[in-house]
Parts: sequence; structure tokens; C-alpha cells
Amino acid sequence: MHARVRLLAALAVVSACSLQEASNRVDSTAAVTQKPSSRAWNPNTWQAPTVDSTPDDPFEIAVYRGLAILTHTHDSLPGYVGGNLNCTSCHLDEGRRVNAAPLVGAFARYPKYMDRSGAVVPIEDRVNYCFTRSLAGSKLPPDSREMQDIVAYLAFISTGVPTGEHVPGEGLAKMPALTGDSSKGRLLFVDNCVRCHGNNGAGLGPIPALWGPQSFSIGASMARQERAASFIRHNMPFDRPGTLTDQQAYDVAAYITAMPRPDSPGKETDWPDGGAPPDAPYDTKGHKAFRPPKVLPRTNNPAAAIVAAPASVSRTK
Ligand code: HEC
Ligand code: HEC
Repeated sequence: MHARVRLLAALAVVSACSLQEASNRVDSTAAVTQKPSSRAWNPNTWQAPTVDSTPDDPFEIAVYRGLAILTHTHDSLPGYVGGNLNCTSCHLDEGRRVNAAPLVGAFARYPKYMDRSGAVVPIEDRVNYCFTRSLAGSKLPPDSREMQDIVAYLAFISTGVPTGEHVPGEGLAKMPALTGDSSKGRLLFVDNCVRCHGNNGAGLGPIPALWGPQSFSIGASMARQERAASFIRHNMPFDRPGTLTDQQAYDVAAYITAMPRPDSPGKETDWPDGGAPPDAPYDTKGHKAFRPPKVLPRTNNPAAAIVAAPASVSRTK
């Protein structure tokens, strides 16, 4: 199956190239209108390349290091991560799983306008939003080797996706408009989640926290009831995904998102032009907080982390 897809992809590239050559010979303007590269792109057959476990050139080594940072963010960059999460706590299967905010293909869509920030942002800023919000940590300097390793990995797993194109299963699937009941959610949590995430939501062993000082901040997308419900509906319980109904996913999401979690300084300036989603749990322009949880002081001080960067965070030469 893989081999066949690859062969077809190779044939498509070969025929696109020879068409290009042929049209160059006959009429050079024809090549422009035929757009051979977009004809070879098929989002349904495209597959992200896999990372070589024995990298042998500088780019592959950067990709390999980037993947290691994504899967061991907390251990690799303790000064930049507030809690016990890694990037792949949410971006499951090394950022490859559909409906778990996959990172494959994302690189092709940046720079991009984000209404939450009211600005066009490069991919480094998007990664830093996950550092400051989802990891309740602090910004990695954009020109640090570590950031460039992460970006190299993101670029690699988007190889072949044309600029601005989309891949199936992007983001977190939109949920039907329901409202969760947190008291039902508490019971579902005990039956389905406690054995891995612990009774106090702090996570057991390497399993990440769902609330409390070690979890994602109130400014993370996961702190929104609908976003959390979607992630849970498709991906949790980890060993039995898809067993909760939409309503049950909302109920358990309502329970989790009501619990205390780290603050996200500056969150009130999100959606500067208004239009915050209804479940944003804090006040923004024209929006009243939806079921706001108690916020906890940040365990790491963003300003301090940037000044006292770990020695390994150096400028890329
Ligand atoms: C608490 C969960 C969580 C953690 C941890 C997390 N992210 Fe995210 N990330 C998300 C969610 C949710 C989205 C938004 C998905 C959506 O709604 O499209 C997102 C979006 C992104 C995007 C943009 C994807 C796109 O399609 O535009 C990138 C890039 C990204 N994250 C990188 C990272 C990196 C790198 C890390 C670790 C430093 C990380 N994330 C940690 C939850 C998380
Ligand atoms: C069998 C163990 C297991 C069970 C049961 C389980 N999870 Fe998870 N959960 C995980 C693991 C492991 C991860 C991180 C994935 C990774 O690192 O690959 C995770 C990640 C998460 C995340 C994103 C990261 C974070 O810490 O916020 C959420 C949210 C989550 N689980 C919610 C739930 C909910 C709600 C339930 C119950 C319906 C549940 N989980 C049941 C193992 C489990």
C-alpha cells in the first residue's frame, strides 16, 4: 500500500516534470497556466515523511532534535515549561494524529492571520503561543537553536504540502453545540480518567496534568469547553478513544475546565477586534467569561526564563 502510494506519487512528479519540459520546449507560457506542482498535490493520498532514526546530514539532525524536543519538552527545556506537559501530550503520535491538532501540514499555512492575536504571525510565534499558554511556560527565543530545530521538524512533516493548502483532520473537529454538566462530568472522570490522570487531576507518572499548577493555562485552547470536549471525544480515554458520546465528552470537559489552572498574563487583550468564541473562559473585548475557573500564580517567571536561558539555547550559527 505504502509502496504503491509512493510509486504513484513518484509517477505524478515525473509526469509533471516531463510535461513541464515539454511545454517549455513548445510554449513557455503554457507551463505557467498548467501549474504542474498543484496537479501533483492530492491531500487524500499525501503522507508526511517519517523521521530518519539515523540522521546523516545537518538538516536531518535538526529535524531529529526537533522531534526529541516535542516529545520531551518538559525534560529538554525545563526553564520554558511551566507544568508536566510535552507538546505531544496534545499533538498525539508525534503531531501526526488526525483530530488531535495534527502538526503535519501546519508549516504550509504560516505566516497566517490569527483573530485571537489580531495579527499575521510567523510559525515561531504560533509555537510560542503553545509554550506560553498550553505549556504554561515562556517564549523560546525565535532564533535559538531549539526553536529552529522545532521549526525544522514542522517543515519536514509538511514536505510536499503546497503553501496555503490543507490536509484532512486538521485542528480539533468542531463539536455540535451542547453544554456540559460538570457534576455528571465528575462521575465520568472517576470512571474513565482517574486511573491515568489521578484523582486530583495532576497526572500519574509520565501522564500529564489536567488541572492544577502543573497543567495548561487558562489561555490555552484546551481550556475552552468545546475544544476540550472535541479532544476528549476523539482521543480519550487514551486506550479506548471514541467510547464517550458527544454529551459525555462535554460533561467531562465541563468538569475539567472548571478546575483551577495557571493564569495566562495578558489574556484580556486576546481577540482585540472582538469576536471571542462563546466558551472563552475569560473576559475579552465584547465578551463575558464563560464559566471562568480559579486562576493560579504561574510556577515559572517568563521574564526570568528568557534572561537566564539554559546554556544550550544559543543563536543558530
Ligand atoms: C494542552 C495541549 C497542547 C500542548 C501541550 C501544545 N499544544 Fe500546540 N496546539 C494545541 C491546540 C488545541 C491547538 C489549536 C488547534 C486548532 O484549534 O486548530 C494547537 C496549535 C498548534 C500549532 C498550530 C497548528 C495549526 O494547524 O495551525 C502549532 C504549530 C503548535 N500547536 C505547536 C505546538 C508545540 C511546538 C508545542 C510544544 C512546545 C505545543 N504545540 C504544545 C494544543 C496544545
Ligand atoms: C490509559 C491512560 C489514560 C486514560 C484512561 C485517560 N488518559 Fe488522557 N492522556 C493520557 C496520556 C498518556 C496523555 C498524553 C499523550 C502522550 O503523551 O502521548 C493524555 C492526554 C490527555 C489530555 C491532553 C494533555 C493534558 O494533560 O491536558 C487531556 C485533556 C486528557 N488526556 C483528558 C483525559 C480525559 C478527560 C480522560 C477520561 C475521559 C482521559 N484523559 C483518560 C492517558 C490517559
